Amino acid sequence: MMTTEILLVLLCVAAGVYCSLTSVERGVPYPPTYTGPVIGVLAQTTFGKMEKFGHSYIAASYVKYLEMSGAQVIPVMDSLSAEELNRTLHSINGMLIPGGGQIFPDSKFYRASKFIYDWTVSYNKNQTETQGHFPLWGTCLGFEAMLYAEAGANETNDIRFKCSAHMANNLTIQEGAQDSRMLKNLDSKLYQAVQTEKLVYNSHSFCISPDKIEDTDSPLHKNYNLLAVNWDAEGQQYIALVEHKTLPIFASQFHPEKNGFEWTTYEDIPHSKNAVLFMQYLANFFLDEARQNKNQFSESAEFYKRSINNFSPVYTLMAINSTLETCYFFHEK
Ligand SMILES: *[C@@H]1O[C@H](CO)[C@@H](O)[C@H](O)[C@H]1NC(C)=O
Ligand SMILES: *[C@@H]1O[C@H](CO)[C@@H](O)[C@H](O)[C@H]1NC(C)=O
Ligand SMILES: *[C@@H]1O[C@H](CO)[C@@H](O)[C@H](O)[C@H]1NC(C)=O
Ligand SMILES: *[C@@H]1O[C@H](CO)[C@@H](O)[C@H](O)[C@H]1NC(C)=O
Ligand SMILES: *[C@@H]1O[C@H](CO)[C@@H](O)[C@H](O)[C@H]1NC(C)=O
Repeated sequence: MMTTEILLVLLCVAAGVYCSLTSVERGVPYPPTYTGPVIGVLAQTTFGKMEKFGHSYIAASYVKYLEMSGAQVIPVMDSLSAEELNRTLHSINGMLIPGGGQIFPDSKFYRASKFIYDWTVSYNKNQTETQGHFPLWGTCLGFEAMLYAEAGANETNDIRFKCSAHMANNLTIQEGAQDSRMLKNLDSKLYQAVQTEKLVYNSHSFCISPDKIEDTDSPLHKNYNLLAVNWDAEGQQYIALVEHKTLPIFASQFHPEKNGFEWTTYEDIPHSKNAVLFMQYLANFFLDEARQNKNQFSESAEFYKRSINNFSPVYTLMAINSTLETCYFFHEK
């Protein structure tokens, strides 16, 4: 150990480059710059068989989904303080709140989601020279958290109802959605296919009724456009896809990342060409939004230290019969 360090220090000195001991441990010094866009993905507390791998996790499918469209990814712990979250968000170019299983409103995950949601609204409304256009995407539980926060919901006044949707669906696209920021550039064949073929996968036990947007006195009416709906196993209608009326905030109750990156045989996840093309369309759309944001970490070392590439995913499908193919685990509480 000692000799290796000395050797590396000597090599660094000989090469005439700056290198600290921490960077030597990594094998090479941190490069002086890095290239974005950088997207944060919110981690959440592990439960059940996952607990033995760490205190919190992120399904690797979300990471692959973003990387596929040209993102660098950092995990964002749900235990970060408001100050740390604020600093993190001011240093990255967009945020994704994933699906999973956490309670509302009394969980670290929900509290962090609400902070991120309120921060994103505030940041985008400020629209100054240096800030504006920070995109936020919510998937499944993330979708529910964002709309719950927007509605100012709580335990006694939830906006969700109990439902059962663990299946592939076509999307019933709503009037006007063809002009939405999210869907307006979708190729006409795919726009047709997503309505007639079962291209999206749902996996949730809570739903939000379209009334929550459509009724003029409902909490989501003012700021959200309804893009698509779906029906659960009992034929109850629910919101499938939304976008904020003015800000770069988007959310789906279904799971785009599963089409390309989840392979459990216990779920009927669509893997057809059109399903994968629709997944890619949504990820590309989100990354285009993130490329408009110019935030950066003030020190490149912080980016490299926080990159998801510091962690190795576990093959959870085989290790614990998880329906998630691979997951990243973190020891932070
Ligand atoms: C949030 O972070 C930004 C950038 O680091 C800083 O300018 C601002 O004062 C922070 N705001 C709060 C409320 O901490
Ligand atoms: C938006 O601007 C206000 C007023 O300058 C500031 O207090 C707030 O922190 C800004 N929001 C964000 C998320 O930067
Ligand atoms: C929940 O929200 C409702 C409506 O906004 C409010 O009247 C009630 O006091 C809230 N309850 C709690 C426990 O915060
Ligand atoms: C979408 O699926 C539903 C339920 O399976 C079906 O009733 C409907 O006809 C489909 N929509 C289109 C446009 O094919
Ligand atoms: C693996 O999980 C699935 C459901 O997710 C279950 O049906 C199956 O019995 C489990 N297999 C084993 C060996 O535990």
